[in-house]
Amino acid sequence: MNRLVIVSNRVPLPDEDGNPPAGGLAVALHAALRKRGGGLWMGWSGKVQTEAGTEQLEEMEIEGITYALTDLSETDYNEYYAGFANRVLWPIFHSRLDLAEYARKEMSGYFRVNRLFADLLAPRLQEDDVVWIHDYHLIPLAEELRQRGVTCRIGFFLHIPWPPSDILIAMPVYERVLKALCAYDVLGFQTDLDLANFSECLRRENVGGPVGERTFRAYDRTFEAGAFPISIETADFARLAEAADSGDELVESTKNSLTGKQLIIGADRLDYSKGITHRIEAYERLLIEHPERRGNISFLQVTPKSRSDVPEYAAMQKQLAELIGRVNGALGSADWVPTRYINQSLGRSVLAGLYRLADVGLVTPLKDGMNLVAKEYVAAQDPEDPGVLVLSRFAGAARELKGALLINPYDSEMTARTIERALSMPLDERRERWRGMMDHLLTHDVNHWCEDFLAALNAPR
Ligand code: G6P
Repeated sequence: MNRLVIVSNRVPLPDEDGNPPAGGLAVALHAALRKRGGGLWMGWSGKVQTEAGTEQLEEMEIEGITYALTDLSETDYNEYYAGFANRVLWPIFHSRLDLAEYARKEMSGYFRVNRLFADLLAPRLQEDDVVWIHDYHLIPLAEELRQRGVTCRIGFFLHIPWPPSDILIAMPVYERVLKALCAYDVLGFQTDLDLANFSECLRRENVGGPVGERTFRAYDRTFEAGAFPISIETADFARLAEAADSGDELVESTKNSLTGKQLIIGADRLDYSKGITHRIEAYERLLIEHPERRGNISFLQVTPKSRSDVPEYAAMQKQLAELIGRVNGALGSADWVPTRYINQSLGRSVLAGLYRLADVGLVTPLKDGMNLVAKEYVAAQDPEDPGVLVLSRFAGAARELKGALLINPYDSEMTARTIERALSMPLDERRERWRGMMDHLLTHDVNHWCEDFLAALNAPR
């Protein structure tokens, strides 16, 4: 089997016991490398250096996987990561033009860091390597590697949505981004909708389009592009949840603290795309319209802070804390707090146990490439007494999880009504809805995702 080389912005190293950290991307890619008996994973170390001398790779081998990491200079971090990637590409690809802050300097920094990655990686590549590059931070990397004479197969997977053409073209330098993507051999999107948006962008620019089932031709290159919905380690996650249900202290004490109340759970990085403020407003509406629910339900929102150096994130952090404080203050009582809000990241196993404990999983992003919390919530349920997933129609996962109750997060009345329906759903219906989703996730797990993508990347040209 050819060596697999993965490149992603962050490289989450395993802990001392060799366990990958929580999080969809990390879990999925460790599984891919483990399955092939090892390989190379290159990316940013997560460290920022104030001095020069960041242009080197530190290599280490853990359980057969070689990790090659580079630090970023402060300027690179600000312009590439906190700048163009997270203040331009992220908001625009999530259709939030209002939040995009374009600066030419940051755009140059983005392309510069991609050149740096190419300089560091190209000399380490062998001709028969298979290179798989991940996410919006690294779109220009294949083009840069090709310019350095790299001829091996290079694939790209976009973990976030691809926007409609009207939105993409509002981004200065969109042509460079679109063209850079066409330098890959295989392009993977989360859903058929993202793929259709990408295809429409090519058509609208008059630079190419589909010429076969998955084959595209654009900018004088032929490549494959398809929908490859990412997934989770379903069976493992289900086992983890079952074990945590009876063996984890925090899960146990949370269960005891509920004293018979129904639990609603939300778990998201603190990000405006996740629709957390809309969700709290819908919950507030539910409590106003159904006063009998007060004191009888508890909403746990687990929200680790994220990208706090980016101003839009810092603003959202403040806005959300104020909103939750207001709702708790207005609707709570001396013996009941409507929302338990924590800004910490919990371990995978604790989260799995809490998902299993929750009667309702609220996954209500305004826009999301896939959303693996939705899939994990389903996998964590007790088959005899499963909870109900309330899911935004704007999450990629909504195209697969047919047993979820779908909502439009912009419609707080509908969301409140749907939460109420979830809380009172009879056991038979819960079981039936859950079974269909779980069966789908057991066959369409992360291994299926990897195999599907790598088969396309390894297919003869
Ligand atoms: C999303 C992106 C990932 C990213 C993750 C965490 O899931 O698709 O590429 O790693 O968010 O964001 P951060 O900025 O902390 O890496």
